[in-house]
Amino acid sequence: MENKVYLNGEYLPLSKAKISVLDRGFLFGDGVYEVIPAYHGKLFRLQEHLDRLESSLSNIRLGLSYNMDKWRQILEPLLDKDKDQYIYLQITRGVAPKRDHAFPVSPVPTVFAMCSDIQHVADRDSGVKAVTMEDSRWDMCNVKATTLLANILLRQQAIEQGCAEAILIKNGYVTEGAASNLFAVIDGVLMTPAKSGDILPGITRDVIIELARANDIPVKEDIISLDALQTASEIWVTSSTREIIPVVELDGKKVADGLPGPLWQKMHELFQDYKQSVS
Ligand code: PDD
Repeated sequence: MENKVYLNGEYLPLSKAKISVLDRGFLFGDGVYEVIPAYHGKLFRLQEHLDRLESSLSNIRLGLSYNMDKWRQILEPLLDKDKDQYIYLQITRGVAPKRDHAFPVSPVPTVFAMCSDIQHVADRDSGVKAVTMEDSRWDMCNVKATTLLANILLRQQAIEQGCAEAILIKNGYVTEGAASNLFAVIDGVLMTPAKSGDILPGITRDVIIELARANDIPVKEDIISLDALQTASEIWVTSSTREIIPVVELDGKKVADGLPGPLWQKMHELFQDYKQSVS
């Protein structure tokens, strides 16, 4: 049976869901999105994802005031209780009468949501390769904007070099991955860059910091220079769809002994237990 999606108040088969070519999401990438995991039909950290959505909407000056209950009502019918899935939710500034950079006078947002199965990363347990690249993005990376050309080009270059992720460097310091946050174990401390306009405030990132603090793992939100990253005993990239992935090779050199590290193993287990406890 074809997947059902949500579009502007209706549930439709995917192939029947259509938007106008004048939608500003299509013409300008003028929109924001969320990716929300759902384990056995239960949305994970929904409040946190909705808070980030609200912040993204407010940053792009787009008004849409749905409360938590309204979002639940919209999203829950898309879920399958027997599976691990994720919701992709996108809101654009809607259809305007003509193509004009300036905002339309009374925008009617386009609201779209679909659900997909989570495909667990095949080589998570053995680790992945990553490559560092100059961060060519803008200074509002805290906004989860659909305008993702820089991220796409960076990730594609990484893939073409046989790597799973591009790790982005701005003025000599790590920001994040092309579609993930970054953690590194440096001198025995779990480090991750602090929140700023240079990174997306990842929900998985927050869970990891909470789990570290609750389990006496030293953790610090601070700058990480490229030089320091090269000395790390462990590097991880994290996101809602891929969870915590150990990076075992950076720019063609092994990270420590080239195997996923003991802290990754521990955090992976803590994360799985936490998921179980809330789903
Ligand atoms: N992306 N940083 C960037 C640039 C991202 O695109 C993502 C996730 C993250 C991690 O955020 P979270 O832990 O909330 O998923 C960090 C999603 C999964 C995507 O674009 O598909």
